[in-house]
Amino acid sequence: MTKPFYVTTPIYYVNDRPHIGHAYTTVLADVLHRAHRLFGDESYFLTGTDEHGQKVEQAARKAGMDPQAHCDLYSGRFKDAWVALGVSYDQFIRTTDAAHKAFVREQIQRLFDAGDIYEKEYEGWYSTGEERFFTEKELVDGKDPISHRPVELIREKNYFFRMSKYQAWLIGHIEANPAFILPEFRRNEVLGFLRQPLADLCISRPKARLAWGIPLPFDENYVAYVWVDALLNYWSAVKDRKWKDGSAAWPATVHLIGKDILTTHCVYWTTILRALGAPQPEHILAHGWWMKDGQRMSKTTGNVVDPIEMAGKFGADVFRYYLMRDMVVGQDGDFTDAGFAATHNADLANDLGNLFSRTHKLVEQHFAGAAPAPARGSEADRAIVDALGALFPAVEEDFRAFRVDAGIKKVIAHIRELNRYIDAAAPWRLAKTDLAATGTVLYHILDGLRAAATLLSPVMPVKMAKLLELLGIPGAPKGDWQRAGAYPVGVRLAPVESLFPKIELAAAEIPAPAAAQPAPPAAVKAAASEDGLVTVDEFFRTKLVSAKILAAEPVEGTDKLVKLSVDAGEATPRTVVAGIRLHYAPEALVGRQIVLVANLAPRKLKGIESRGMLLCAKMKTEAGEKLVLIAPESDAAPGSPVG
Ligand code: ME8
Ligand code: MG
Repeated sequence: MTKPFYVTTPIYYVNDRPHIGHAYTTVLADVLHRAHRLFGDESYFLTGTDEHGQKVEQAARKAGMDPQAHCDLYSGRFKDAWVALGVSYDQFIRTTDAAHKAFVREQIQRLFDAGDIYEKEYEGWYSTGEERFFTEKELVDGKDPISHRPVELIREKNYFFRMSKYQAWLIGHIEANPAFILPEFRRNEVLGFLRQPLADLCISRPKARLAWGIPLPFDENYVAYVWVDALLNYWSAVKDRKWKDGSAAWPATVHLIGKDILTTHCVYWTTILRALGAPQPEHILAHGWWMKDGQRMSKTTGNVVDPIEMAGKFGADVFRYYLMRDMVVGQDGDFTDAGFAATHNADLANDLGNLFSRTHKLVEQHFAGAAPAPARGSEADRAIVDALGALFPAVEEDFRAFRVDAGIKKVIAHIRELNRYIDAAAPWRLAKTDLAATGTVLYHILDGLRAAATLLSPVMPVKMAKLLELLGIPGAPKGDWQRAGAYPVGVRLAPVESLFPKIELAAAEIPAPAAAQPAPPAAVKAAASEDGLVTVDEFFRTKLVSAKILAAEPVEGTDKLVKLSVDAGEATPRTVVAGIRLHYAPEALVGRQIVLVANLAPRKLKGIESRGMLLCAKMKTEAGEKLVLIAPESDAAPGSPVG
C-alpha cells in the first residue's frame, strides 16, 4: 500500500483575476495529483479562494458591488481558469462557505479556551496591502517591506495569539524534520527568521474598521484576521474526510505556496496547529516567482501573462508543459514568448512529435500499421530497453520528490536517445535487408513513446491521451506498465495527426533587441553541450535578417570600429557598431547589403549602443585574418528573414 497524498494550493484572493503565478501553483498541484494517481496512490487536491479581509472589501467597494457578489464573481473566474487549464481539483473551498466559517469560529474558540488568546492595546504600523502589522524596525523607508506600500500607525485593542510560546517547539520541529520546509534554502530562511524572538500574533480586526470577516465567537465586535481564517481552510476542507483505509485526511502531504507567503505558512500556520493539538503537514514547499522578460510582472507595467489567453491560443497542455518544464521547482523562472516557442518546438514538435510520425510511417510501410514484435536484438536494442527500464523509477522518484521539471527533462532526454537510436539503426534502410531487425527497432521506439505518453500524462493530460490513442492503447495504463516491453504487439496504430504543430512567432512577438533578452531555455543549453549539435529550432532562436547599410562613420578612439546606420526593415534605422574598419573603409560600406543578427542583446561599444551584429566570413591569410561581409546574393528587401 502506498501512502495517500493530499496536496493544497494557496487560496487566492478574489481581488484579482487569475494570472500566470496562480496558474503555476495550481498546475503544479494538478501535476503532482495526477502523478500520484498514475503511480497508484490515493490522492486529494484542494484549491479555492480567500474571500475575507480588507483587500476584498475595498475591491468590492471600488467596483460598487456587495462584497459577497464580488466574491462570487471573482471566485467563479478562478474556477473558470482551472477548467480552461485542465486542472482536476477534488474540492474548491471558499472562505465564505458556511461550513468553513463555522469551523474557523470553533477553532478560535478552542484557542481562546486553552488560554492561547489574550487581549491587549496595540500600536503598530499597518499595511492594508499586506493586511498585517509591521514593527518599526521592519519598515523600509517608512513603507511596508514587502509591497513597499504606505503604512499607517494604528492604536487599538485587539486579540492576540500566543505565538511566542511555540517558538522553541517550532525550531525543534523544523530541525528534526529536514524535509518539512522545502527547498532547503527556504528552510534556512525560516530558521534565520526564528533566531529573533517571535512576537505574538494579532488575530483580530475591529469590526468598525473591517466588517468583511468572520466574527470572533467570544467578541462579536471583532472579526478574525484574514490569514487565520484563510490558513484554516486546509484543515476545514477535509475535517470529516477519511482515506479509504479509514485514516483521517488531515494533515496535508504538501502545501504548495509561493515564496511570498513563507512566513504565514511556516510560522503562523504551524504554531496555530500546534496550539490546537493538530498534526503538522508533512511538507510546505515554496516555489519561486515567475517574471516576464526578466521583469517583475505587475498590472501597472501591463506585462502580466494571462493563462487563459495562453491556453486559448496554444492549448492548455502545451502551456502547462512550458510552466512545468521551464521552472525549476523552488527557483524563479522567466517567461518569454521566444522561450515558450523554443521549448515547445524543440521538445514537443521536434523530439516527440516527429519521432512519433516517423515511426508511424515506417510501421505503416513495413508492417501494415500494426506494432511489430521485437526479436532478441542487437546491443543497441538492449541498451535502449535498459534505458527505458531505468526511466520509470527515475521519473517516479522525481515526481514524488516534487522535482517535476527534472522528471520531464528525463523523459525528453529519453526521447532524444530514441531519436539517435532510430537515426543510427536507419530502419528505412534496414527494412530492405532485415525485416525482423527493423521490427525490433520500431517496437522499442513505440514502447518508448508509450512510456513518454504515460509519464507526461500528468503534465499534458489531453495531448498524451491522444498520443496513447494514436499508439493504439487508449485509456489508463494497464498492468505492470512501468516495465520496458509492456507495449502490446500487434495493436493497430491510429492514423497520424499532427500532435504539436510548430509555434511560429510573428515578428512582432519576437522580443525587440532593446528588450531584455531571454536566457536560452535549458533544453538548448543541454543539447548544445551534449553533442555540439543544435536543432533547427535552436538555430532559429537567432533571428537573421537581410539589411542595408545607410551610413557609416569611424568610431573615435579606435581603429577597428565603425558605427553603422542600418535599415533592417523596421520603423527606424538601427545603430550597429562593427569591428570591420581594418577590412572596410566606412565609405565603402554605404549602400551594401548585409546579414544582420537582429535579436542580439544590445551592448555598448565605446559608449555607443550597438543593436545587432553583422555576419562576416573570417579567413586566414598570410597577412593575418581577413574579414569579408556575408550578403544576400541579389537584392533582398531589408528585414527579409534569412533562413
Ligand atoms: O497570498 N509567480 O493570495 P494571492 C509565481 N490569499 N507564483 C505566483 C506569482 C508569481 N509571479 N504571483 C502569485 C494570497 N503567485 C493569500 C493566500 S493561503 C492560506 C492564502 C502565486 O492571490 C503563489 O502561489 O496573492 C502565491 O503564493 C500565490 O499566487 C498568492 O496568491
Ligand atoms: Mg499576493
